[in-house]
Amino acid sequence: MAPVVGVTANLHKKLRSGFLLCLVSVMVFYIEAGTRRYSNAPAFNLERVKRNPGQEKSEERESIGRLRRKHFDGEYDSRVRERNQLYAEYLQMVARLENNSTKSKRLPNVIGVGAEKCGSGALRWMLLKHPMMLSSKPAEMHYFGRWKSKRTIEDYLMHMPMAAPYELIFEKTPSYFTLDAAASSIRETIPNAKILLVLCDPVNRTFSDYVQEKIIKKIVIEESFENLTRHLMDMFSVVLKKRGHDPDATLDYIQKMFRRYRPSHILTTGLYFYHFQKWLKVFGLSNIHVVDGEELISNPGLVMEKVQDFLQIPRLVIQEDFVKGSNGFYCYDGPKIRKNNSETTLVQLKKPECLKHSSKGRTRMGNWHYKPSEDAVNELRRFYEPQNEKLFALLGREFNWTKHAH
Ligand code: A3P
Repeated sequence: MAPVVGVTANLHKKLRSGFLLCLVSVMVFYIEAGTRRYSNAPAFNLERVKRNPGQEKSEERESIGRLRRKHFDGEYDSRVRERNQLYAEYLQMVARLENNSTKSKRLPNVIGVGAEKCGSGALRWMLLKHPMMLSSKPAEMHYFGRWKSKRTIEDYLMHMPMAAPYELIFEKTPSYFTLDAAASSIRETIPNAKILLVLCDPVNRTFSDYVQEKIIKKIVIEESFENLTRHLMDMFSVVLKKRGHDPDATLDYIQKMFRRYRPSHILTTGLYFYHFQKWLKVFGLSNIHVVDGEELISNPGLVMEKVQDFLQIPRLVIQEDFVKGSNGFYCYDGPKIRKNNSETTLVQLKKPECLKHSSKGRTRMGNWHYKPSEDAVNELRRFYEPQNEKLFALLGREFNWTKHAH
C-alpha cells in the first residue's frame, strides 16, 4: 500500500533541503567511489555466465546481429573490468546505506524535456538500466504542461517512486520543450532540477512527428507530408526573415501559431534555437545536458557515459553494454541486479534487451512504408540549416546532422 504523504505548507522548503541532502550524499558517494576505483576493490561478484563453447555458438546464431562481447573473467577488457569493480563497490555501499536510509516520495531531480520524436523514450529506457535511477509512473507526467492548472503538487508527488536519498528520480515529458511556461514553472517548483534535452536532426524529427500525428490522430492532417511542410516553410520563412533577429518575438509567434493551427508544431519544434533560448535563460547551460539524438542511435553507450557524468553518478552503464539488434537499433546487453532474499548479485542478461514499443523506431531506419520525397527533404534541410547554425553557436557545440546537397 502506498504510504500517505502529508504535504504541509512547508513542503517546498522541506523538499529543497531534502534534495540538497540527497545531492550531497550522491556527490559524497561518487567522490568516494571514484577515489576507491583503482584501490583494492573487493572481489567482483558478477555471477559467471557458464556456458560451454557449443552452447555459446548456438546462442550466437539465435540472436541475429548480436555482437556480444565474451563476458568471461579472463576476457573482460579493462573498461568492463573497471566498471564491474565499481558496480561491486556500489552494491556494497548500498547494502550499508540501506540500513540507515529511509525511502520517501520526492519531486524529481532530473527532468527530460524533449524534444518530441528525438528519442527521449529510448534515453529513459537506457537511464533506468542505472541502479540509481528511478522513474515517475507514468513516465510522461505533463504536470508542467497541460496538467498544471488541473492538478496539485500533491498529485504530482503521488506519481513519484519511493526513493532513498542517494537515488535520483526522473520524469520526462517531451512536450515541455516547446511549451510557453514549462521552463519557469519547473525552475520555480524544483529549483535544483537537472534538465536532459535530446535534440536530433530536425528533418528526421519532422517526418517522425508527422507520422506519429497521422497515426494517433491527435490532430487531423489532411495534407501529404510534402504539402504540409511546403506550406509551413513558406509561412515561417517569411516570419524568420522579418523577426528572426528577435528570438523572443519569434518564439512568441511560433507559440501563437501553434495555438491557432496545431500541425504547425511539426515544423516549428525543430526550430530549436528559439525554444532553447528560453531554457538557457531560466536554467543556465550548467544545468542542461543536451544529448544528440542521432548519437543516441549510433552510439548509445557513449551518450549514456556523458549523461552519467552530467548527473554526477558513477558510470555503471558503458559503451560495452550495447549491441546492435535486428531492427538496427542498439539493445542493452549489460549486467543487471538480482535480489534474492537478502542476497544481491549482479548477473549477466540471458539475452540482450531491446526497446520494444510500437511508437519507437517507426521511421528512422527507413522502415516506414513510404519515404518523403527527396525534394521535400532537401527543402527542409535548406530551411533548418541556418537555424541549426544558430543553435550550435549558442551551445558552443556542433552536431553532425546531415546538410542539404548543394
Ligand atoms: P521513429 O519512431 O520515428 O523512428 P521519442 O521517444 O521522443 O518519441 O522518439 C522516438 C524516436 O526514438 C524514434 O523515432 C527512434 O528513431 C528513436 N530511437 C532512438 N533510439 C532508439 C532505440 N534504441 N529503439 C527505438 N527507437 C529509438
